[in-house]
Amino acid sequence: MEQQIKLVDVSGAPVREQAFWPTVVLPRAAIEAEIERLASLPRPANGRRAASINHPMNQGPVPAFAPGIDVHIEVLKPGEKTDPVMRNSSRVDMCIRGNGVVTIGQTQFKAEKFDVWNTPSMEPFSYRNESTDLFVRLSYSNAPLLEKLEVHYADLNPGASIKEAAVAGPADATAAAGPRARDMAKPIPIGSVGAQMLGYEWLVDIDTVESKALHWPWKEISPHLENVYGMDKAYTGRHLYVLYNPATERRIGTSHSFFATIAKLPPGKVDKPHRHSSVAINYIMWGHGKSVVNGQKIEWEAGDLHFSAPGWSVHNHASREEGFVALTIQDHPLHIAMESLLWQETLKEPIHKLGSNDGGIQTNLTSQLKAA
Ligand SMILES: [Fe+2]
Repeated sequence: MEQQIKLVDVSGAPVREQAFWPTVVLPRAAIEAEIERLASLPRPANGRRAASINHPMNQGPVPAFAPGIDVHIEVLKPGEKTDPVMRNSSRVDMCIRGNGVVTIGQTQFKAEKFDVWNTPSMEPFSYRNESTDLFVRLSYSNAPLLEKLEVHYADLNPGASIKEAAVAGPADATAAAGPRARDMAKPIPIGSVGAQMLGYEWLVDIDTVESKALHWPWKEISPHLENVYGMDKAYTGRHLYVLYNPATERRIGTSHSFFATIAKLPPGKVDKPHRHSSVAINYIMWGHGKSVVNGQKIEWEAGDLHFSAPGWSVHNHASREEGFVALTIQDHPLHIAMESLLWQETLKEPIHKLGSNDGGIQTNLTSQLKAA
């Protein structure tokens, strides 16, 4: 049957008001209960015991904790392993209990509690638990955005497709070190301020950046956190480190879609209210604190997962008597790639479009270093 195409008159239409998803906390007890429930089930056919944390405002098409981010609680019992899978979504994971062996493409390492790693798109990945306790991780991916675009590719038998590719061999010149076809398609300048015309070859032979699975062991991260924990509370930045994957270049990500930061706030630190178009999810690793998000007050503590800021909502976080340590995931690199990363560091300052020609934001780090 022929589909009717409608023309929707939007002449003079007002801008659509954005529906911010409210801040919510999934408490530690609920996460622990779900871990036990997953562990009590018979082993699923593919070995992947997982629950996707669904925000009450999510309309689908898949469960998601932020509009473009899903968070899975993934559990492996002792002696279990998962079947390999390969997708065009990318992931950032944190181990929150036990330990296990991570295999991503040709990379293999042992992950322990609070280790973080990324899984590049289109790398087969699988997990193995050789310990006597459960191996549990929080796994964040950009799948909900790809599902919305109806382009989330999945290969549930990546071993077969890899073998096929090997049989087929390098069918084109992409892997060759020889001349590139695009070098023959010379750019044609248009006007005098940078516009050009390029041949098709430029679309299908873009410069490559190697995308690797990287591992940030907690043992190596944690000593450095004392540097940010020890900074004076007058510091106007955030007491954190970003776990940087060089493949994301100027987009300063951990995966191509997300950054992962580990913050360690000193006691009694109150961030200034601010906003950014990237969405934020915090996992509290130690300590406790409180937030105000869109005027809503909310408290959280170690083991909680906090949907801590819908994109572009005004928010701030504060530590209490002992400070806190938290993993924050934001879709910051994705927004830089889309030129949509708006950032307002304090409500008195202008809105910046980060990464473009209006410059970046400066903290008082220089005076902090002088004081140290
Ligand atoms: Fe923020």
